[in-house]
Amino acid sequence: MIFVESTNQEKVQIKDKKFELYISEDEIQKSIQTVAKRINTDYKGEEIIFVGVLNGAFMFAADLIKDIDLECEISFVKVTSYKGTSSTGKVHELIGLTTDIKDKHVVILEDIVDSGLTLSKLYSMIDHNAPKSVQVATLLYKPDAFKGKYPPKYVGIEIPNKFIVGYGLDYMEVGRNTREIYKIIE
Ligand code: IMP
Ligand code: MG
Repeated sequence: MIFVESTNQEKVQIKDKKFELYISEDEIQKSIQTVAKRINTDYKGEEIIFVGVLNGAFMFAADLIKDIDLECEISFVKVTSYKGTSSTGKVHELIGLTTDIKDKHVVILEDIVDSGLTLSKLYSMIDHNAPKSVQVATLLYKPDAFKGKYPPKYVGIEIPNKFIVGYGLDYMEVGRNTREIYKIIE
C-alpha cells in the first residue's frame, strides 16, 4: 500500500487501484461501541460465544470484545468468497468451527455483509451444531447488495454498494493494516 497524496483527503494506491479516505478511525470506534452496548443490553445475564470470520473480521472482533462486559468466548472460522473486488458466488470453508456451541447463544462477527452469501453458509455451518440462538454483528453492511433472507441484527455502519478496504478488509489480500477505511476511486 502506497500513500499517493497526504492532504486531509488521503489517497492510497493498492496494486492497480486507487482509494480515498472514507470512514475515520473515530467513526469506526464509535460505531463499535454502540454495537457492543446493544449486545451487552440484549444478552444481559447470558453467556455468548462469538464466532469471528477470518480474515476480514479480526480487527473488528478484537476491538468489539474489549467493550463486552458479559461472560463470553471467542472462536474463529475461515471462509472465502471474494476474488479482487467482487464475489465469486461460491463460499469455501477453509477452517471450520472447533468450539462446542450446543445450546449456546452465538453471535457471528463479520467485517462486512455484502451479498449475504457468506452469511448463509455460516448459518448452515452453525445451525448444524444446535445453538440456542444465532445473531450477526457486522461492522459494515451494504443493504443494496444484500440478497439473503436474514439481514444482520447488529450493524456498525451502513454503506452504499462500493468496494472498500482497510481496518481488516483487503484488496487482493493487501490493505488490511489501517485504522481507517478507504473507498475505491472509480
Ligand atoms: P458476501 O458473501 O457477498 O456477503 O461477502 C462477504 C465477504 O466478502 C466479506 O466478509 C468480505 O470478506 C468480502 N467483501 C465484501 N465486500 C467487500 C469490500 O467492499 N471490500 C473488501 N472485502 C469485501
Ligand atoms: Mg470476510
